[in-house]
Amino acid sequence: MSESAGRHGPPHRAAAETACVLPWIHLCASIDGVYGRCCVDDSMYHNALYDESEEPVFALNDDAIGCSPGSRYAKDNPDRVMGLEEAFNSPNMKRTRLAMLNGERVAACQYCYFREDHAAQSYRQNVNRRFAQEFDLEALAARTAADGTVEEFPFFLDIRFGNTCNLRCVMCTYPVSSSWGAKQRPKWSSAVIDPYRADEELWTTLRENAHLIRRLYFAGGEPFLQPGHFAMLELLVETGNAGNVDIAYNSNLTVSPERAMKLFPHFKSVGIGASCDGVGEVFEFIRAGGKWADFVANLRLLRSEVDVWLQVSPQRHNLWDLRNVLEFARAEGLEVDLANVVQWPADFSVTSLPADEKARATEELTDLIAWCTELGWDKPAVHLGALRSFMNSLDPISLVDEGAS
Ligand SMILES: C[S@@+](CC[C@H](N)C(=O)[O-])C[C@H]1O[C@@H](n2cnc3c(N)ncnc32)[C@H](O)[C@@H]1O
Ligand code: SF4
Repeated sequence: MSESAGRHGPPHRAAAETACVLPWIHLCASIDGVYGRCCVDDSMYHNALYDESEEPVFALNDDAIGCSPGSRYAKDNPDRVMGLEEAFNSPNMKRTRLAMLNGERVAACQYCYFREDHAAQSYRQNVNRRFAQEFDLEALAARTAADGTVEEFPFFLDIRFGNTCNLRCVMCTYPVSSSWGAKQRPKWSSAVIDPYRADEELWTTLRENAHLIRRLYFAGGEPFLQPGHFAMLELLVETGNAGNVDIAYNSNLTVSPERAMKLFPHFKSVGIGASCDGVGEVFEFIRAGGKWADFVANLRLLRSEVDVWLQVSPQRHNLWDLRNVLEFARAEGLEVDLANVVQWPADFSVTSLPADEKARATEELTDLIAWCTELGWDKPAVHLGALRSFMNSLDPISLVDEGAS
């Protein structure tokens, strides 16, 4: 940053309602090579392109951060091809920081604001809570140049090293899962997408900044099947930096985690949100191609070594199985996270239930909340309360109009 850029002044008082710590400390890189403010950045997703029968122009959304050299977008957006560092201080990222500090809502962050407006927990609220001690609003403003630049390398990275996945979960799609791709990809695109594996500039940047990385989040696709994920872990081990790094995952835990387990002892901490959307048959219905028995075996293997919790995506298909998931978690001594409520596909959302079923579901959720509260099990009680409010705060039409179209 040049001296003449100066520093940003104090945050606007409305910034508490609009700002998110992530654009200051974090960068996401999507499965198909678009950079994002985080993984729910609305500008990062261009899924409609993959519905075209003929290969379309891969035009980036105006408010997208930019794209990586190995992505399909690079050819059609040559002026917006960039590496990690340039993406972190791209014009749209700088505008985002300034708008947030100024108390303005950012269009790309509508997924979070929408949830907050409808009584659900947002990613913005969760990360702001998690990093509150180190990065309050004053600290964010102090890190920001007058033009929105932040000099520090983003210490928290979420790079989706491709879409390779063994499952075809009912609420997932192509390009997120290569198994969905094998069934529904357009003829001009390949089932497997991996824009980062051969991106030499990316690997050089990661190597040069390995000492600054403190936190990684892996999803995908299925991280335990991604070559790039293993290369990233190995890079941190080889450079002697793994001990500084906390890793978090979402994994379907239906493939063997043994290769990753050999690397885990080098890291500061490892946490795995094991995606579990039901028990037994419900699990196998939602997580199409997965076996409940494999999931349970991998879960028990991993939990002896690292922190594991159940990550549930509440939706119409599992609303009546949440009790079984909670009882399974209780029996295994595991924590449960139910905050990631499915909004898309809209007809899978609990908000799309007819009124009489919502009334019955409200009773079921109220009963589950009372049970958790009696046990002093706060996290699921809070998440179930938010789920109940979210379900009842919207009718199906308003969800399609406002959130999921
Ligand atoms: C896309 S997956 C990738 C990681 C890994 N394959 C897995 O399933 O955990 C990350 C998380 O997103 C959730 N997910 C999948 N489709 C979703 C949807 N339509 N809405 C909300 N969450 C979804 C999954 O259940 C999982 O917990
Ligand atoms: S396991 Fe994860 S990436 Fe694969 S299909 Fe299911 S939700 Fe999608």
